[in-house]
Amino acid sequence: MPKNVCLGITGASGAVYAIRLIEVLLATGHDVHLSISPSGAQVLEEEMHLKVNLKKFKASSLMLDDVKGTEDSKIQLLQANAGIGSSDSNVLSVESGRIGELIYHHYQDFNSPIASGSFLTQGMVVCPCSGTTLSAIAHGAAGNLIQRAAEVHLKERRPLIVVPRETPLSVPHIENMRRVAEAGGIVMPASPGWYHGVTTIRDLVDFMVARICDQLGIDNGLMKRWGAE
Ligand SMILES: Cc1cc2nc3c(=O)[nH]c(=O)nc-3n(C[C@H](O)[C@H](O)[C@H](O)COP(=O)(O)O)c2cc1C
Repeated sequence: MPKNVCLGITGASGAVYAIRLIEVLLATGHDVHLSISPSGAQVLEEEMHLKVNLKKFKASSLMLDDVKGTEDSKIQLLQANAGIGSSDSNVLSVESGRIGELIYHHYQDFNSPIASGSFLTQGMVVCPCSGTTLSAIAHGAAGNLIQRAAEVHLKERRPLIVVPRETPLSVPHIENMRRVAEAGGIVMPASPGWYHGVTTIRDLVDFMVARICDQLGIDNGLMKRWGAE
């Protein structure tokens, strides 16, 4: 199975989940095919002070290629960021021999491989997922690459995980979540649990990222599991 994972960042609050997810996916050896909507970029700037140029994207704008030096030092930094080898609660139980690549696709580029079902992936995550993108996915409207790639994952019956963030929810939001779930998507509202020994914001972020990784079948020990010692 290819280790390609698509990730769409759209304009809902919670950009931090996406950045952490990228870190963990790369650290576990997955190639991340990233696309960002203009509103997603706006939220990245608003919430994380990250200025992303969608036309001339640089991984450094997401603070992901700050490491200079050898491939080994990059692996060490990513694994350290992802908690591998540390003894706190953010521990990945997997060891990865390689870090994945971050491959960027402009949100209007329908020539991108991720616009086609013939490009094999392990799944797609839309995180955070705005009400707008949720609605497009629910109605099979592929107005941009993120929506198209999501549609492809539904039609190919591959994992599609959407992480909406909105409160309270309108009836259209609820109906759209139902439609996506009925179409085979996994609707995972950004709603972290508080039962796993939360002491930091990172613990809350990792709760969501761990549950997303669970859905993708990615072995992780990012959070303490209910009933575990
Ligand atoms: C700073 C900021 C925060 C936002 N937060 C949310 C949110 O939490 N949930 C949501 O559904 N929309 C939110 N929006 C509105 C969406 O960004 C807007 O509906 C946009 O059309 C989404 O487009 P996209 O799906 O292409 O990213 C927010 C917008 C901004 C600028």
